Amino acid sequence: MTSAEPTHGAHTVEIRAFSKTFSGQRVLTNFDLVLGSGEIHALVGENGCGKSTFIKCLSGYQSPDAGAELEVRGERLAIPYTAAQAAERGLVFVHQDFGIVPTLSVMENMALSGGFSTRGGAIQWRTQAIKTTEALAVLGRDDIPPDALASTLSASEHATIAIARALAGTKDGASFLVLDEPTAALPQSEVNALFHVIRRLAQQGTTVLFVSHRLQEVFDVADRVTVLRDSRKVGTFDTADLDERALVEKIVGRELAALYPESAPTSRAEVVLEVEGLTATRVSEVSFTAHRGEILGIAGLQGSGRSEIIRLLFGAQQRRSGSIRIGGQEVRLRNPASAMKAGIAHVPEDRIHHGVFGRMTVAENLSLLTVGRYWKYGRIQTGPETQRVSELINAYDIRPSSAGQLMGRLSGGNQQKGVLAKWLEISPTILLLDEPAQGVDVGAKSDIYHLIEQWVAEHSSTVIMVSSDFEDLNALCHRVLVLRDGKLVADLENESKTVDRMVELAYLKDAG
Ligand SMILES: Nc1ncnc2c1ncn2[C@@H]1O[C@H](COP(=O)(O)OP(=O)(O)OP(=O)(O)O)[C@@H](O)[C@H]1O
Ligand SMILES: [Mg+2]
Repeated sequence: MTSAEPTHGAHTVEIRAFSKTFSGQRVLTNFDLVLGSGEIHALVGENGCGKSTFIKCLSGYQSPDAGAELEVRGERLAIPYTAAQAAERGLVFVHQDFGIVPTLSVMENMALSGGFSTRGGAIQWRTQAIKTTEALAVLGRDDIPPDALASTLSASEHATIAIARALAGTKDGASFLVLDEPTAALPQSEVNALFHVIRRLAQQGTTVLFVSHRLQEVFDVADRVTVLRDSRKVGTFDTADLDERALVEKIVGRELAALYPESAPTSRAEVVLEVEGLTATRVSEVSFTAHRGEILGIAGLQGSGRSEIIRLLFGAQQRRSGSIRIGGQEVRLRNPASAMKAGIAHVPEDRIHHGVFGRMTVAENLSLLTVGRYWKYGRIQTGPETQRVSELINAYDIRPSSAGQLMGRLSGGNQQKGVLAKWLEISPTILLLDEPAQGVDVGAKSDIYHLIEQWVAEHSSTVIMVSSDFEDLNALCHRVLVLRDGKLVADLENESKTVDRMVELAYLKDAG
């Protein structure tokens, strides 16, 4: 079943003996991979297994340990090489955090790699705008204004720009496109557009390597898949020879009992939240209730208004009309601080910009919201704080389990566990989750869902969760609201709550 040899075309890329050590610890061990031209190859593995580290080494952003070798189209690249030298050989990369500068416009971000169109030293803004729109059109997003500030765009639009930018650099002779979790923040419609582009590039002979935690995607688009576990390669397989279960077991190295917790139907407890006639920019006249001990899902496509509901409930955006009542009391929620006072917490979609303080330690991040508890006799009581932090690291299985590590050095999924731990610590009455499993591996996702389920049951709290993954919503949520074009079109529960029904209602105009 192992397929060490590419099924496609001539060998284009030969990667040999890539290793990487950080302060004495190996996070990538002797990684080899041979890829054919026109091959689409997926790289998968648990959070922190070394995928991004490998890609950073390959791109020249970090240098691998001595002994690594790389050949592209039969030519050896002397290591270390710079990202520019790699690009000369047609190696193009999109990294996990997309590298979008929020204070720059879309076209300025596009120019960060390709440079500006100039004439006589002056930037040709019109030409630049046209080039930008053309590049975005390849992904079906020529509606993004080239002069828009990146900070006004969503995470998925940042992903789109980063991918368009990398593709724009591949004009002719691009032999190898590498994407680190390109779809983590993308809605399904854009995922399909991206895969369309990827397949077309592959047909033209480009080799594509991408990282994903969404295994369905791997089967949809990849010819072969390589699994990493604990810094080592487990093997390379033809996707046609595997099913999802077999792949999951290779990733986690054991049989996985149950991916999702049993979502025990709650006996209908008291109403905690009442939303009536909520109207803002995208949503109009949305009314629903949420109960104690309930995990309430919100399904819908990007732009359907699901994230806006979350922002309105967290006071990060103001409603035009409608009312929000918590425990029977009307609340105004003028800003996130007033929402937090009302017992509402929010784990945002955009972890990198809003959830994680990368230059602070894991301990500082975890006790950020609760540090007041450890304040006694005019100073922080470090003993109890350290104790609690290490309990949290264990409970949430944050790896590496070092309180003093900088948060920014943790892998994406481990950062996500940290953000969740931080917010659950304040025991909110209502917890708002926007894409909580984004960038999280199958094992960690299962852990996170079990933690949420357990936390809700223990505290009789309420979770309201937005996810693009309807399977997840169906499995974890007691009830699911479906939004379409800013309107609430269904409130699904029990037998009516199925993935098919959600898809139908979210996509189709005449399904409701
Ligand atoms: N600059 C660094 N200094 C120290 N350790 C690091 C650094 N960068 C990464 N690591 C560690 O290397 C290991 C591999 O991290 P990496 O980011 O490659 O994981 P990953 O497979 O991409 O995970 P994810 O799926 O969560 O993105 C992790 O244990 C991480 O904490
Ligand atoms: Mg990664």
